Amino acid sequence: MQRAGLIERLHPPLLNLALTAGKLAAKSGIRAYLVGGIVRDLMLGRPCVDVDLAIEGDAVKLAGQMAQKLGARLTVHKAFGTASLKIDDFNVDMATCRSEIYRCPGALPLVSPGALQDDLKRRDFSINAMAVSVNAPDRDVLTDFFGGRRDLSQGLIRVLHNISFQDDATRMMRAVRYEQRLGFKLERGTARLLKRNLDMLDTISGDRLKNELLLWLKEESCPAILRRASRLGITGKLHPALRWQRTMRSAFRRAYASNIVKTPHLFFCLLVYNLNEEQLYKLLARLNLTGSRLDLLSNQSLELRKKCRELAKPGLKRSKIYSTLHGYDSISIQTICCYAVIPTLRSNLALYLKELRQVKTSLDGNELMKMGLREGPRLGAILNKLLAARLDGAVQSKSDEIKLVRRLAGL
Ligand code: CTP
Repeated sequence: MQRAGLIERLHPPLLNLALTAGKLAAKSGIRAYLVGGIVRDLMLGRPCVDVDLAIEGDAVKLAGQMAQKLGARLTVHKAFGTASLKIDDFNVDMATCRSEIYRCPGALPLVSPGALQDDLKRRDFSINAMAVSVNAPDRDVLTDFFGGRRDLSQGLIRVLHNISFQDDATRMMRAVRYEQRLGFKLERGTARLLKRNLDMLDTISGDRLKNELLLWLKEESCPAILRRASRLGITGKLHPALRWQRTMRSAFRRAYASNIVKTPHLFFCLLVYNLNEEQLYKLLARLNLTGSRLDLLSNQSLELRKKCRELAKPGLKRSKIYSTLHGYDSISIQTICCYAVIPTLRSNLALYLKELRQVKTSLDGNELMKMGLREGPRLGAILNKLLAARLDGAVQSKSDEIKLVRRLAGL
């Protein structure tokens, strides 16, 4: 029995947790294993914060015992027979080993309790299908039925069998995410299977596609993932017009080089920027995003694109820039900014984001009413003129504003 030397690489709180799981499991005569991403990341020396434990036995019961022993917060997902523990910043998911049968492509599988081997067999890639025992007598022994360790050392993403992508086509999106995150390559047969099974993405629900897409957008290597997914034909299955383009590369570069906050929302808007109204509508519907914040932001960007010519005019009054952009979310404006090549357009957008949108008048509606104006559209119009004058530097102080109001209102 050869020890893998992996458990000792765990962060002390996680090590304590794994050892506790092992001791409690041994006491109950069951077995506990670290599985999936944590084993892969331990082998690669990458940071681990999420731990998956697979239990040959009752995972929920063991989780309850661990929570009591460690004073951890426990959440039980009864419907799935799984439990999660939260200790400090670490999450531990515990599940009973299970075997899965896919009755039809894209549907969630039929699940029944199984042994470790069944549990590993149902997984996506060899590098995610390894386990390390945490209980005596074989603590720290690696189980690797599918050559995961070899593939890790060769930098390969390999499916476990020929119908893996038919069972679950989201694995195509996962494959690209791991490939680019780890600097790996799709194994040749896996790449062939992926290309051959692209149509299987049609069997996946909008919510699942959306979740996978958001995982792409959260990765550090997001642009590389999008480029690769586009070349493989994956983005084209989300919408035929969704593909990586040279302008997109420049827009992502500008986003990374700037000091704007890099959020998945921004990256989503950058990704869909080149779609027209109908294409965007269809994509959002396919991803079950209709009515979401991403729907709002991407449609705002689309609307703003039509205003670019106007916004690119040199010598534009600051109040004009303000009134054109006011009401749009900063993410939608940043999207336009990342794509903008005309210097005046970029500087006008940047001016709005950095300065103009913060500008306020000294007088507000209440003060105008104290001066004798009545509530209503006229008061609103005067406030707008006041703000425009502030923006354009025509008034600079409260007393300037009072004078202007008196003049405008004929007081
Ligand atoms: N898994 C799978 N097929 C999927 C989703 C998940 O086989 N469609 C398995 C993999 O073994 C994976 C594990 O479930 O390692 C946990 O899934 P997830 O949390 O998505 O992956 P991790 O590798 O743990 O985490 P990450 O992708 O964030 O590194």
